[in-house]
Amino acid sequence: MSKKIILAYSGGLDTSVIIKWLTKKGYSVIAYMADVGQESDFRTYKERALKTGAIKVVVEDLKSEFVRDFVFKSLKADAVYESGYLLATALSRPLIAKGLVRTAHAEGAEFVAHGCTGKGNDQVRFEVTIKALDPGLKILAPVREWELKTRSEEIEYAKDNFIPIDTTKKKPYSIDVNLWGISIESGKLEDPYYEPDEDIYQLTKGMNKAAAKPVYVEVVFKGGIPVKLDGKAMNGVDLITKLAKVAGNAGVGRSDMIENRLVGIKSREIYEAPAGWVLLTAHKALESLVLDRETLHFKEAVALKYAELTYYGLWYTPLRCALDKFIDETQKSVNGTVRLKLHKGNCSVVGRKSPDSLYRKELATYEKGDAFDQSLAKGFIELWGLPYEGTYKGK
Ligand code: ARG
Repeated sequence: MSKKIILAYSGGLDTSVIIKWLTKKGYSVIAYMADVGQESDFRTYKERALKTGAIKVVVEDLKSEFVRDFVFKSLKADAVYESGYLLATALSRPLIAKGLVRTAHAEGAEFVAHGCTGKGNDQVRFEVTIKALDPGLKILAPVREWELKTRSEEIEYAKDNFIPIDTTKKKPYSIDVNLWGISIESGKLEDPYYEPDEDIYQLTKGMNKAAAKPVYVEVVFKGGIPVKLDGKAMNGVDLITKLAKVAGNAGVGRSDMIENRLVGIKSREIYEAPAGWVLLTAHKALESLVLDRETLHFKEAVALKYAELTYYGLWYTPLRCALDKFIDETQKSVNGTVRLKLHKGNCSVVGRKSPDSLYRKELATYEKGDAFDQSLAKGFIELWGLPYEGTYKGK
């Protein structure tokens, strides 16, 4: 009997060629597709996989799980990698890998495969997750080891083997999309000085085309999670989808960065996460109103660590779980409403309110009704500065 293998299948050239390549090596390939909001034509891809030789195709809608268990955890953490990346791709990989493992168990397969190259982060995220969940599964990464060195060799292979792919379409960039955002790399972007054409952007409008008038949005959070948009209660998937349209239209959510990959190289990346940036900005604004100073500052350090863990493929690890416990404790008071103004690529907070607000007008005011006893400041400063009196030896 041939060996069963579950392949993370995207429908593109690489993973289509992998189906044939594995089949020729004697594997029975089950193509696994996870819907994380990439709006793929799953029907066409399913047919393509079967025509190419897959014995079965499994498609799972993981959008709600993606938002609930990955995106919103990351949002509560305020996780951003190297100040510009909201981790859309990085957050989806452990979820997809978990799906591969689940499918392997359901199908009684001993092998799993993915289509990542040996230079990226995604291979690490897939494999670390698979090993964390089931170290007994054997992992194959054909692109890392096969003889097809260039894209044209792959196209040639596809033609020779009657693999139905769209070879007329040029593939100028490597693109990964999901509900939280889009990651674009390679092609002309490999020159860090090259300014991408406007048509590279898919979720956001450029300054010239963005709406001329500012648009206001109001987000309500409960326990650190957005639950209402502009007064309407919505589930996470709908809220993100709706907000992405509004924010993208206002040109909000782009980043262009040189990023440090886990495997040691720097790479040029273009990201769009319109809903993500609005929600992150709003969430942080609300936290600044409801969290005490020390918790807030400590949480800023946690955010960096959380982003690193996510980026490094260390999602299913004890530290990430422990940090979630800490973060959830802090989110008990992250309830309230944030109003934001989106205009020509800018996203600014214009108002915030909360039943858990720690802001006390009677203490902050410079007007009538001041309850702050300014005479106490003198003694406070004396003790605060005491250890340093006359100690400074620098210039
Ligand atoms: N550099 C980003 C990351 O490591 C994006 C990766 C995009 N992946 C892709 N297959 N195009 O998360």
